[in-house]
Amino acid sequence: MIKTIKDFDVKNKRVLVRCDFNVPLTEKGEVEDDFKIRQTIPTIKYLIENNAKIILMSHLDKPHGKVIENLRLDCVKNSLEKLLNISIKKTSDCIGKEVKKAAFNLKPKEILLLENLRFYKEEEENDDNFAKQLSELGEIYINDAFATCHREHASVVGVPKYLPSAAGLLLEKEIKALSKVLENPWRPLVVIIGGVKIENKLKLIKNFLEKADHLLIGGKIANELLIIKGICLGIPTSAEKIIKEIENLNLTSPKLHLPIDALVSLNAEGEGYVRETALGKVRKEEIILDIGPHTVEIFSRIIEEAKMIVFSGPLGYFENPLFEKGTREITEKITKNHKAFKIAGGGDTVFALSKFGLLDNFDHVSTGGGAMLNFLSGEKMPGIEILKNE
Ligand code: 3PG
Repeated sequence: MIKTIKDFDVKNKRVLVRCDFNVPLTEKGEVEDDFKIRQTIPTIKYLIENNAKIILMSHLDKPHGKVIENLRLDCVKNSLEKLLNISIKKTSDCIGKEVKKAAFNLKPKEILLLENLRFYKEEEENDDNFAKQLSELGEIYINDAFATCHREHASVVGVPKYLPSAAGLLLEKEIKALSKVLENPWRPLVVIIGGVKIENKLKLIKNFLEKADHLLIGGKIANELLIIKGICLGIPTSAEKIIKEIENLNLTSPKLHLPIDALVSLNAEGEGYVRETALGKVRKEEIILDIGPHTVEIFSRIIEEAKMIVFSGPLGYFENPLFEKGTREITEKITKNHKAFKIAGGGDTVFALSKFGLLDNFDHVSTGGGAMLNFLSGEKMPGIEILKNE
């Protein structure tokens, strides 16, 4: 059991909250999708209602220890102010005298946002002195950044060594929803895995080959599996180590469902040429960019029967309208299954669901990309483990 924010009396206390405001930005440097920021609002509102002095901290992107002007958190401040309809303070650093002064001057219900934590390399190095300096800003530490709990970084695992610590409402909600899949899934449990980065998803595939009733695989991951196993023509793009792992994967399990047909093009952008074909008839110059209609039909029948569905990764190149059909139709099918508990997660998946206007039709949409994969692969996450010591 881990403590949650509600186990503390936060009144008049400086509460240091690790959030995940790592959001996509537009070319102008504005927040392109505020999904992750919106998900932290319940914790922030709870702290306001309970008269806490609120200090928010996050990283944005990967500045790797350098100050990069475009990666300052002012865009997040603007977004938070719009969502909360109050003005909030922000410092141009995340540690140091000025930051400490701003934190100690906070009044109850006021919010201070710190500058991008990854402007210091010490954050990713989990430097103890950096963690200590951050911890001195608060009296209580709340982790509400599920999406970074797989990272052993100073603000995730260092700060809680120095302060009474607990999970925020978002972290609590993520753990509850995702634990349902691992601990006591409603069956049939159907897991749909797509996307581009196969190395991130191999553990997930292995775990759900055991735990799920059906594992449906699409996207670039399916293409790599099919090419490496010699079922389909093409040249694998994965690293040698990954190819070896895939070669050793047992694809004969009756739980595993791979595409049987596809939409192909001649280039990765899918420009100027679309052909629908059975997988065995993909030509060597062609690239698979979507699952085909027969695959959609087979996957749909399995989804109809599901009681629990996990959706991680688009099934094709949905960014191009010519190749969005597979992902769109499967998403629609999932949302029409009203008896199933439906979970989705990962940056591209969330982007696809919001493009189709179907984000709200899921029971839980995780803010975690890599973190959700780690959690569902059954791995221990340092950011969560450290809260168990409390
Ligand atoms: C995410 O977007 O998944 C989290 O913010 C973690 O980001 P990272 O992969 O850069 O550590």
